[in-house]
Amino acid sequence: GPGLSRDELKQLVRTVPDFPSSGIQFRDITTLLAHGEGLSASVDMLAGMAADLGATKVAGIEARGFIFGTALALRLGVGFVPIRKAGKLPVECIGEDYALEYGEARVELDPSIIGSDDKVLVVDDLLATGGTALAAVRLLRRAGAEVSHALFVIDLPELGGAGALAEEGITTHALID
Ligand code: PRP
Ligand code: ADE
Repeated sequence: GPGLSRDELKQLVRTVPDFPSSGIQFRDITTLLAHGEGLSASVDMLAGMAADLGATKVAGIEARGFIFGTALALRLGVGFVPIRKAGKLPVECIGEDYALEYGEARVELDPSIIGSDDKVLVVDDLLATGGTALAAVRLLRRAGAEVSHALFVIDLPELGGAGALAEEGITTHALID
């Protein structure tokens, strides 16, 4: 089993007040990533939560979702799909604009990567309003994937992301609140 408890993981996340704008309590995973046991326990726990979900691919959201998403895909033995910020993909792609806790952005996907028999698990470091994860779900569904679960290291429950995802038929799993 995992070498660290959820409480110990939580203590490895650094809180930075007023970043990137006034009033935001930024939950910084840099300190967790730099901690060998913390990183390893996080990926072990994500793999445990994903074990029975039957995913054929893992999708990670740029940039912090790439770190945990790739690690999880390797553990599950499935492929990794990058959901990219606007303008980065070299081929024709589909896009979704969205709002997040501290701004607005656009994510894009190359739909040719997805097959109609794919069950895709969405992974990101953190769930706040759910705007980013919902944009990823919409892209994957437009590309033909079945999407029913999303995994996060951190959920900020007071921002309502899990409820927003539930309205779109997505079950949320998170390691820490
Ligand atoms: C952060 C975080 C999530 C998103 C969550 O990403 O990694 O993707 O915000 O917020 P939401 O639930 O309100 O949408 P950010 O856009 O800051 O990008 P980064 O991963 O490149 O730092
Ligand atoms: N993404 C959205 N809100 C965030 C927060 N409070 N800390 C870190 N990443 C975030």
